[in-house]
Amino acid sequence: MHDGSGRIEVRQLSKNFGSVQAVANLSFTVEPGSVTGFLGPNGAGKTTTLRMILGLVNPSEGTATINGLPHDKLGHPARVVGSVLENEGFHPKRSARNHLKVYAAAIGVPDRRVEDVLAAVGLTDAGNRHAGGFSLGMRQRLALATALLGDPQVLVLDEPANGLDPEGIAWLRTFLRDFAKQGRTVLVSSHLLAEVEQTIDQVVIISHGQTMYYGQLHDLRNAQRPRVLVLPSDHDALATALREEQISEIEQASDGRLVVMNTSAQQVGDIALRASVAIYGLEERHADLENLFFQLTSGQYAAAPQQYGPPPGAPYGASPGAYGPSQDVWSQQAAQQPYPQGNTGWGGQH
Ligand SMILES: Nc1ncnc2c1ncn2[C@@H]1O[C@H](COP(=O)(O)OP(=O)(O)OP(=O)(O)O)[C@@H](O)[C@H]1O
Ligand SMILES: [Mg+2]
Repeated sequence: MHDGSGRIEVRQLSKNFGSVQAVANLSFTVEPGSVTGFLGPNGAGKTTTLRMILGLVNPSEGTATINGLPHDKLGHPARVVGSVLENEGFHPKRSARNHLKVYAAAIGVPDRRVEDVLAAVGLTDAGNRHAGGFSLGMRQRLALATALLGDPQVLVLDEPANGLDPEGIAWLRTFLRDFAKQGRTVLVSSHLLAEVEQTIDQVVIISHGQTMYYGQLHDLRNAQRPRVLVLPSDHDALATALREEQISEIEQASDGRLVVMNTSAQQVGDIALRASVAIYGLEERHADLENLFFQLTSGQYAAAPQQYGPPPGAPYGASPGAYGPSQDVWSQQAAQQPYPQGNTGWGGQH
């Protein structure tokens, strides 16, 4: 008997397809009551992982459980977990309503659920149309309706926003958040952080089949240290004054500004005033999440990913300081990367 927790647990999961290692020692936990984003670039191993969670692919190593059991031990799996994977096929000549009736019969739920799920995804009026004539967005909704037939506790969706227009994405966001608010579990994959950023609370970021980060999205944002970009009249004098105040992570940007880590604009301004250094520009920068996602999943981190992943069996919701990137992604590029100019009108040329 499953434990009814709504928890998905992935432990040291690996999958090799011949010489291709699609998933490598992946561990994370998805808790109920929230929407968890499963993010990674194309080919990162998202679909393979979701298929292992759903019992459609056998792991080479490790385990994936829902409610404490592997998918094939769940008894009535459709009542526990509903899923939408890539390229769901529908009989083109069958109406949406009939398609759902066939599935309802297959999983042993009464026909009246069909009307409930059609209404839930906004397809009641289109229910008698052939699925073959549906737009991509309508097919996504029908796939979601199918996943909902068993009134599952857990939803696993692979790139569900693909093909949805902005209105459809907004609708899906509200739907998934409401579903999670009922104490249910949502795991949703995407290769675009921006697409799901407003939908998700938790995030698992993978690259080359390995965990780069998992935890709360807002912790990931907050974990990135703010930096201050400052254009002083005398670089050496300001750097010396900052070091005297134990602020020692200072780099020179290509536009002539100093990049100062672990401080605030106010602190830099105060120190400059006391050191009688004129300031021609002062700007505080916080993490740009998309940039951070790109840094976490780009090739340079794939070379040594172990140091960023959580240890096996790590507790869920662990602090990003422990499991997130151990280096600040900005500090490596601060000296080289051109920054978009603010509207202050000052700063060097790139
Ligand atoms: N059945 C298979 N046979 C061989 N290789 C496979 C198979 N399925 C996946 N792979 C490989 O495993 C890796 C991960 O693929 P996967 O589809 O899981 O990535 P993904 O993160 O879902 O990518 P996308 O964002 O493009 O959907 C890729 O290198 C892929 O080519
Ligand atoms: Mg995929």
